[in-house]
Amino acid sequence: MPGSRVVLGVGGGVAAYKAAELARSLMEEGCRVQVVMTGAAMEFVRPLTFAALTANKVITGLFNQSSGEEMLASAVEHIAVAQENDLLAVAPATADLLAKFAHGIAGDFLTTLYLAFQGPVLLAPAMNTAMWEHPATRANLATLTKRGHSVVGPGSGLLACGTTGPGRLAEVEIITAEALRLLRPVRDLEGETVLVTAGPTREPIDPVRFISNRSSGKMGYALAEAAANRGAQVILISGPVDLAPPPGVSLIRVQTAAEMYQAVMTALPKATIVIKAAAVADYHVANVPSQKVKKSATRYSLDLEPAQDILAEIGRRKTSQLVVGFAAETQNLVAEARRKLESKNCDMVVGNLVSAAGIGFESDENEVLLVLRTGEPVQLPRAPKRRIAGQILDQVLRLRLALHTPA
Ligand code: CTP
Repeated sequence: MPGSRVVLGVGGGVAAYKAAELARSLMEEGCRVQVVMTGAAMEFVRPLTFAALTANKVITGLFNQSSGEEMLASAVEHIAVAQENDLLAVAPATADLLAKFAHGIAGDFLTTLYLAFQGPVLLAPAMNTAMWEHPATRANLATLTKRGHSVVGPGSGLLACGTTGPGRLAEVEIITAEALRLLRPVRDLEGETVLVTAGPTREPIDPVRFISNRSSGKMGYALAEAAANRGAQVILISGPVDLAPPPGVSLIRVQTAAEMYQAVMTALPKATIVIKAAAVADYHVANVPSQKVKKSATRYSLDLEPAQDILAEIGRRKTSQLVVGFAAETQNLVAEARRKLESKNCDMVVGNLVSAAGIGFESDENEVLLVLRTGEPVQLPRAPKRRIAGQILDQVLRLRLALHTPA
């Protein structure tokens, strides 16, 4: 992909020399390649080979630099390299590297870079057949695939150790093709208009006070960003949050559930997909006083009346839109999510256990259960909200196919 930036991690194996061909092949496709070698890799190939091929300095991957300054520079550099590159490709990925990646052991530049890198990861393993087939390697590989990494090969054939079997680094053309696939932006939501609601609402008690909830808006904003990146027109209707709007989305800011209701109903006819991630108030104060309420020694009660259920109204009005609701629960997640799916006429409900530590409200991670109109529930394991957002959108598209709803 012209202009793409690839960081190529080279592990210590006989196949390390083939990584040089891979670097050249990626460059021929227009990629800018930054090579990172492990200490073991340098026993097989000299860094100079890669430096000459890529016209770029090679990171030789050790933290045991001679001076403290050099150590600090290299410790900071892995973050910069992680942020600058679009793809991390590791070839050959040795059994040792697979184990370290799987368990988050970060003792050198490449393994530390792996932890800091947030984009797609391609692993091209190469090792002796017995090592490849060892249960430890199989388990590490299962962990890495489950994490969403792409594993290419290994191929079968005569290995350096003299045996024949699986363990050879995959062909350079195959690794390159997979790298290009991972670098290609996915535009599978082109033509869709996605309406996302996010954040809490604020229901005034008087001119200076309000009732609200702990929603940060992060999940809704991640969904809006992911949908826009995948080519959709995105209308984001947001309650008050402390987040920058994702690039390319039309943002409508609201405060109260009533304002959100109006904004959603106005935008609804344009939408093909509706995602109601907002934590909307169920009640608002009846007859909000126009002046600040003064304290007194007596008890003070709020007279609350039910707010309109926006999602339920979408469910009533929907024509061809695919509607995704959220269910924030502290118990009975599956049953509650299913009940909301039916009662609000949704196609999917994203169930969220908001009582669990480290996920849900305010946090950067989430772990959700998708209850679908058709098929079994899908559990999405704990992951950053951005990744969860992508997986929810994948499921929305799958559901659309299953329901044969035209866009
Ligand atoms: N919702 C809405 N309008 C409301 C309340 C909720 O559109 N006034 C939507 C939320 O955006 C979410 C879904 O309904 O997509 C479920 O919200 P949740 O707070 O989990 O459930 P409630 O319907 O409020 O039910 P309960 O309070 O019984 O859990």
